[in-house]
Amino acid sequence: MSFPQALGEAARLIQARLDLALARQADEPVIHAMRYAVAGGKRLRGFLVLESAALFGLPPDRAIAAAAAVECLHAYSLVHDDMPCMDDDDLRRGQPTVHVKWDEATAVLAGDALQTLAFELLCDPALGTGDTRIALVQGLALASGAEGMVLGQALDIAAESAANPLTLDQITRLQAGKTGALIRWSAEAGAVLAGADPAPLRAYATALGLAFQIADDILDETGDEAQTGKRLHKDAKAGKATFVSLLGLDGARRKARDLVAEAEGHLAPYGDRAKTLIEAARFVIARDS
Ligand code: IPE
Ligand code: IPE
Ligand code: MG
Ligand code: MG
Ligand code: MG
Repeated sequence: MSFPQALGEAARLIQARLDLALARQADEPVIHAMRYAVAGGKRLRGFLVLESAALFGLPPDRAIAAAAAVECLHAYSLVHDDMPCMDDDDLRRGQPTVHVKWDEATAVLAGDALQTLAFELLCDPALGTGDTRIALVQGLALASGAEGMVLGQALDIAAESAANPLTLDQITRLQAGKTGALIRWSAEAGAVLAGADPAPLRAYATALGLAFQIADDILDETGDEAQTGKRLHKDAKAGKATFVSLLGLDGARRKARDLVAEAEGHLAPYGDRAKTLIEAARFVIARDS
């Protein structure tokens, strides 16, 4: 299977699990908004869950609830990221953002409920023993909250009005939180499910997560709105602290390439079995959406 086929197949399985999770809910605007917000996207985080599980011989049905969980968490972060009080965006995944299609209250609440749905999904017995599920819950809570995504988002917003530009170390910390933490949890999930050492996957994902956000920042400057399905050329105007703002486009591209080479190196212990994860790393910086 080619990499795009593998990513597409993962996306199909993840959407089916999400449909199941959201099927039983009431016929209310907030539920429609949840379904809308979680639809589409590249499904890279969920793919990393399924692929890291496959590395240890676990089939998709043993990991799919975790893949769906991280996509819910990610979708919630996007709904809130797009709101007027944060990045104020009207387009996401090629569609009007949730607060535009419904209203701000619905966007807040749909995001909140997608977050709790993520943790509900991690209670699925198919994922393993109680201890395994608690490890996944704890890991995702840490990755999402005040030490992870939320911290990164807070630093990102604060940087817009900072008196001085952030340093390389400060931007690295910001991005490790806002984007890196969920990508790290996703890539480590397979090892957690299998009871294996997550260290090589963690090192891989740390480099990968940073490369992913650098690629996002480069796309903001050079990408195509129809391809990315979101508004571009906004980061510089908003005063966002990014690798592009600090290193320029060429410097950011070099940094992303170095990080992908580093990420690949960390997969050496898995030999040929890590072929798809290596392709995922290359995809992250070559993508146009
Ligand atoms: C966008 O993430 C937000 C960032 C963390 C940069 P993705 O580029 O993975 O968005 P989708 O899920 O494919 O829409
Ligand atoms: C968003 O980063 C990260 C999270 C939602 C946690 P960005 O603000 O750069 O993402 P886009 O460009 O809106 O997708
Ligand atoms: Mg943002
Ligand atoms: Mg944004
Ligand atoms: Mg961006």
